[in-house]
Amino acid sequence: MKGVFITFEGVEGSGKSSQIKLLEQYLHEQGIDCFVTREPGGPPISEAIRKLLLDVNNAEMVAETELLLYLASRAQHTAQWIIPALEQGKIVICDRYTDSSLAYQGGGRKLSANVINTLTSFATRNLKPDITFLLDVDVEIGQKRIRNRKLDRLEEESLNFHKQVRQEYLKLAKRHQDRYIIIDGSLGMKEIHELIVLHMTSYLRSL
Ligand code: TYD
Repeated sequence: MKGVFITFEGVEGSGKSSQIKLLEQYLHEQGIDCFVTREPGGPPISEAIRKLLLDVNNAEMVAETELLLYLASRAQHTAQWIIPALEQGKIVICDRYTDSSLAYQGGGRKLSANVINTLTSFATRNLKPDITFLLDVDVEIGQKRIRNRKLDRLEEESLNFHKQVRQEYLKLAKRHQDRYIIIDGSLGMKEIHELIVLHMTSYLRSL
């Protein structure tokens, strides 16, 4: 595949979306073609699944259903949008991807990592990110940042759930040092952006 696949991961309020906007703007200014998307979501089928997943009225959803819906959304998104964009040589930036399932449904909901990995390979046709930026932030700080938002079904989970999600991300980052870049999410917006640009440019130069 000719393109580059970048993912952003982190707990709620880690600042992913702001950093993705800044990176998109930077790449655009450099004349580099990029395609920005998010999970759960993307094409219409995946967006319809997103609504089911985040709806606070779906409190009875069991962990297995939750995982399969995230994966169904991802399968459609990957096949319909991500792989074609990579084949066109684009830089694809995705707000959350497979590591979110390992962190939330694995670390948070305690589903088996083996099961998640096997089903994920199937759903993604084994597509893996080239770089993953983990914006690591203390869960309490993250929660404070989203205090004024209307919370979705996952955001309503307990502090302890989110702490387990964060720990799982840190474990994943250790396990996949080849693609993971951990960034201290408590730094200022500009500082974080500069670190991301530094890593991006050195990666692009190494290709
Ligand atoms: P979203 O509004 O996109 O949140 P954020 O701004 O934090 O990215 O909601 C996505 C929610 O879904 C978020 O709480 C994380 C969760 N999620 C999973 O539990 N598993 C997954 O595989 C993905 C992609 C997201």
